[in-house]
Amino acid sequence: MSRAVIVTGAGSGIGRAITAAFALQGDAVHALDISEEAAKETAAQLAEYDVHPHVGDVSRFEDVERVVNAAVEAHGGLDVMVSAAGVYDGYAGIDDTSVELWERVLSINLTGVFNAHRAAVPAMRPTGGRLITIGSIGGSRGAADGLAYAASKAGLEGMNRRLALDVAERGITANIVAPGAIDTPIRETSKRTIGHLHPEHKRRTLPPDILDWLIPVRRFGRPEEIASTVLFLASEAADYITGQSIVVDGGWTAQ
Ligand SMILES: NC(=O)c1ccc[n+]([C@@H]2O[C@H](COP(=O)([O-])OP(=O)(O)OC[C@H]3O[C@@H](n4cnc5c(N)ncnc54)[C@H](O)[C@@H]3O)[C@@H](O)[C@H]2O)c1
Repeated sequence: MSRAVIVTGAGSGIGRAITAAFALQGDAVHALDISEEAAKETAAQLAEYDVHPHVGDVSRFEDVERVVNAAVEAHGGLDVMVSAAGVYDGYAGIDDTSVELWERVLSINLTGVFNAHRAAVPAMRPTGGRLITIGSIGGSRGAADGLAYAASKAGLEGMNRRLALDVAERGITANIVAPGAIDTPIRETSKRTIGHLHPEHKRRTLPPDILDWLIPVRRFGRPEEIASTVLFLASEAADYITGQSIVVDGGWTAQ
């Protein structure tokens, strides 16, 4: 049966791959992105499927609520909310993180996900609802990106556990997929999104043998490899999984 799905950050990388994965299995997908061009490009790439582009900023509750309302109007309810919108902060540490950078990163990566959950839960159908968040191994490790990024992704882990308790009796599960290093243009898109707040990338040169010492499978992950885990968590096969964070990192954190 076709489900109503919302994907935030659907204009690029992981969010775009998730949008495609749901669309290809016959679901109706509302694809939200802060970049109008990016949201429309995702919909154009999936023109023969049921994909609806929306422009909005997840840090503004009313923007997310507008997309939820559109999905409810079109499909009579919501089944899946996937939060993939997020930004990097250029490895900025304590000396480079301005108050403005801190607040903007938290407003997108953490408050933006709260906004998605807050708007989605009342709109979800009585059974089988899914709240799925793209976290990061930065939620449990210090080296994924900057200070604000690490704080935002760790915050998602706490919110997700508490949220899972709230929604369990309503037949809704809440889970995180925590990627390692995935091949997406996130450094460029983050500069586009948070502009002048974005500091120069602090790790200018990565060692040539980075894959040898960082990632045991010796390659970056593909966005589709995150999307397939999201599809699993959205399926009936994952009915008994909630409040969890599933790491997809090619073995990075096994070390
Ligand atoms: N790429 C990686 O290695 C990696 C690793 C771990 C976690 N993640 C997480 O995966 C998620 C997706 O990242 P990606 O690598 O696909 O990046 P990406 O930049 O390719 O895609 C992110 C999308 O989110 C959109 N976006 C940013 N701020 C927004 C806002 N305020 N409102 C609406 N849309 C907004 C961007 O325009 C972009 O289209 C992020 O949460 C990121 O933290 C990525």
